[in-house]
Amino acid sequence: MPALPDIAPGATADQARAHLEHAGWRLIGTGDWAWVYADPSDTLAARVVPFDPAYRMFAQDCLDGPANRWLPRVDAIVPLARDGFVTVMERLWPADTARADAFCAALGIGNDTGYEPAAGVFDEASDPDLALLADRIRALLARGAKTYSVWGGSDIRAGNVMADASGALKLVDPIFIAGKKIAEAIAAGDVEKLRGFTRGQLEDFLTIAIFSPGGEGQGGRVALLEQVDRLFGGRDP
Ligand SMILES: Nc1ncnc2c1ncn2[C@@H]1O[C@H](COP(=O)(O)OP(=O)(O)O)[C@@H](O)[C@H]1O
Ligand SMILES: [Mg+2]
Repeated sequence: MPALPDIAPGATADQARAHLEHAGWRLIGTGDWAWVYADPSDTLAARVVPFDPAYRMFAQDCLDGPANRWLPRVDAIVPLARDGFVTVMERLWPADTARADAFCAALGIGNDTGYEPAAGVFDEASDPDLALLADRIRALLARGAKTYSVWGGSDIRAGNVMADASGALKLVDPIFIAGKKIAEAIAAGDVEKLRGFTRGQLEDFLTIAIFSPGGEGQGGRVALLEQVDRLFGGRDP
């Protein structure tokens, strides 16, 4: 196995990304929040985020909890500046959509963004790890809902199911905080909704992938940053 990337704890997400690129890792995926890199041997993946409390809960659960055949193997969580972090895990590939849909349906947890899994036959549904996985995800969903006023919920859908080199399915990004609600609360000056976040966290939120160059939210970023400044000055919400 290749060495884990030696990212200095406390680096920013930008510094971590530059470090990975310098070490020959390639960008293989970008989501709303994260940048994901593969090492030169295509064995490991490193998912970089400046801020992402929902994925942090999930990655920590993968790292600390018992192995489950439907979860990616997480090797390390490297803390970055403030609440940023890099998740070093097994390198995965896109999964067959029909199999991924059938897996989501068999798991039996709906999706809170409107996705409906296409019905399909899942021939591995009797696997005990599937029920254990559903229990773990439900526990994370309950914890998230209790902790965050802008909690999103489940994002279990075929697009968040990948496959390892042998074709085994892995659930990669099952729970979310509603980034849209954070942005809307900032824009609307809804201080109550933002309570619990620090000013620094809101600034870091405005640097996740969707707000960076090429991202869908880039156009609105500066206005939101100014609004954070206007609302909180030097204070936290
Ligand atoms: N372990 C991995 N190996 C390879 N690609 C991955 C891995 N994890 C995620 N990706 C890719 O990176 C993209 C973004 O990752 P994801 O964790 O879903 O972040 P986001 O929260 O930004 O959607 C995914 O859609 C997928 O294509
Ligand atoms: Mg995703």
